[in-house]
Amino acid sequence: MKWFAAVTAALSLCVSSIAFAQQPIVIKFSHVVAEKTPKGQGALKFKELAEKKLPGKVQVQVFPSSQLFGDAKEMEALLLGDVQLIAPSLSKFDRYTKKLQVYDLPFLFPSIEVVDKFQDGPDGQALLDSMKSKGLKGLAYWHNGMKQLSTNRDKLTVPADVKGLKFRIQSSDVLEAQFRAVGANPQKMAFSEVYQALQTGVVDGQENTWSNIYSQKFYEVQKTIAETNHGLIEYMVVTNAKWWDGLPPDIRAGLAEAMKEATAYANKLAFDINESDKKKIAEAGKAKIQKLTKQDLAEWQKAMQPVWKKFEPGIGKDLVQAALKAGG
Ligand code: LMR
Repeated sequence: MKWFAAVTAALSLCVSSIAFAQQPIVIKFSHVVAEKTPKGQGALKFKELAEKKLPGKVQVQVFPSSQLFGDAKEMEALLLGDVQLIAPSLSKFDRYTKKLQVYDLPFLFPSIEVVDKFQDGPDGQALLDSMKSKGLKGLAYWHNGMKQLSTNRDKLTVPADVKGLKFRIQSSDVLEAQFRAVGANPQKMAFSEVYQALQTGVVDGQENTWSNIYSQKFYEVQKTIAETNHGLIEYMVVTNAKWWDGLPPDIRAGLAEAMKEATAYANKLAFDINESDKKKIAEAGKAKIQKLTKQDLAEWQKAMQPVWKKFEPGIGKDLVQAALKAGG
């Protein structure tokens, strides 16, 4: 019966190697916002498309709302291989490159259309590969929208109204300088901690898009939201360069295609989500939405302008010029 044992062993080896070969590649996509946001919707679309294009070959698991990793840990987790995709705001790459700081310069980009133009151009595209030596590969840019300023005060029209107030900021040195320029006290803080910090008065205000202000309920714990459009929240979908380069070519091509389509889908949605969330905030009647006059806006712009000079040498004059050129 020796031959029988040998055949059985060979068969079971064969079956288990077939099972092994059929195991889908698990791709964990971790992010910090709610599902009903531009990034949340983009991640879900990517999952749908990737699994459709590569049936049985990949399984995409999406973890929203800092469930798996928050701001502080997601980049490390990506580099360690604990997660394969993340899409941090461009304000959170300070440690990896100074070039992306261009996106944080206050009042540089007047609209998302201009951002689009810059990103589609050679300078924007080159930035996707600017962190390869650090192990990060940029796959796409995803939009959120323009940032608004909010505080727990009734008056919020000119820079003097935020003097001495504490503001939560993302981990960006440019944003730190921006708030110092208007006499406020910035505090770097993870996104998942902002609601509580606003509620308990640890900070007085914050800056964010309508979609984040709505989905995180910041409008419930702020008195005024000024429509400043002074900056933006944009994302880079990044992956671990070594993991990406090591994928079988057909899988990599399928994922790249899914990413391209998910990007078009999410970027088309972003503007509408922000507009409709702004409406919902207005309807809730909790925080007042403060429109600003041209003169008010000019005051903010003038007060924040010195930030450009300070950061231009690190970013590179050419990049700042390219961004300005995109704006016409
Ligand atoms: C923030 O920290 O305020 C944002 O970057 C969160 C996000 O991912 O939109």
